Amino acid sequence: MFLKGKRFLIAGLANKHSIANGIASAMHSQGAELAFSYQSERLHKNVSKLAEEYNSDLLVECDVSSDKSIEQMYHAIAKTWDKFDGLIHSIGFAPGNELDGNYLDAATREGFQIAHDISSYSFTALAKGAKPYLNENSALLTLSYLGAQQSLPNYNVMGLAKASLEANVRFLAAAMGRDQIRVNGISAGPIKTLAASGVKNFRKMLSSYADRAPLGRTVTTEEVGNVAAFLCSNLASGITGEICYVDGGFNTAALSVNEYEDR
Ligand SMILES: NC(=O)c1ccc[n+]([C@@H]2O[C@H](COP(=O)([O-])OP(=O)(O)OC[C@H]3O[C@@H](n4cnc5c(N)ncnc54)[C@H](O)[C@@H]3O)[C@@H](O)[C@H]2O)c1
Repeated sequence: MFLKGKRFLIAGLANKHSIANGIASAMHSQGAELAFSYQSERLHKNVSKLAEEYNSDLLVECDVSSDKSIEQMYHAIAKTWDKFDGLIHSIGFAPGNELDGNYLDAATREGFQIAHDISSYSFTALAKGAKPYLNENSALLTLSYLGAQQSLPNYNVMGLAKASLEANVRFLAAAMGRDQIRVNGISAGPIKTLAASGVKNFRKMLSSYADRAPLGRTVTTEEVGNVAAFLCSNLASGITGEICYVDGGFNTAALSVNEYEDR
């Protein structure tokens, strides 16, 4: 129970398939007390049902595109928690037409701005709002993807937004480190979720992924959750500014072993 006595806000739970759900489950198993924020009223029922499983009834609506909404969320949380120990940012978005086809053809100024605002700046905005309420030894965590480092078909502007998000992790780590607040990211392998289904041909990506990954398979939200729980715990007290890959080793392998094995 290495998170016993700690309180975390999880932002980005939409349904049971969400990476945020794997993270909530792992953190709850390790004894953490959890609060949840959800994007809009539409998600309230789903999120409150899941939150019940984690013994939480601290749920607040927050659209991260609005500073006012973020401020209201922290005020609402402060009525129950005077301080807490960190947050999980499991949020990403780009307009659907940006994630389909040739990057140069699909890219627009508006889509670029939205993707970077919701998928990267919102992490800074949540960190800024949380700062007065954070205990010493708090930890912030976000979710990235390999598209931050390498090009991939259809991922397009989300790759640029994730590159910005990974830089965000390093700059926030430097900005908050002297207050003993750590900031890290997990670069997760592809998992079938609502957000992922917005990327054209995502299923195809999953199968070629399993073939090249050294573990020969994709990863689960539980596996991502376990690493999230570790990174947010005092076991990881010396780690900040890092992007930790939970991807079955995919990013370390240039080719699939299957194709070059002597059989
Ligand atoms: N699924 C994958 O293959 C994969 C891989 C690596 C990284 N990620 C990242 O993991 C994170 C979680 O995504 P997921 O795959 O669990 O999908 P998901 O659809 O379950 O979660 C995405 C969340 O973002 C929230 N969101 C979007 N716009 C928002 C806004 N304006 N305000 C507040 N919340 C908003 C949605 O409500 C949803 O809860 C994202 O950052 C995603 O890019 C996903």
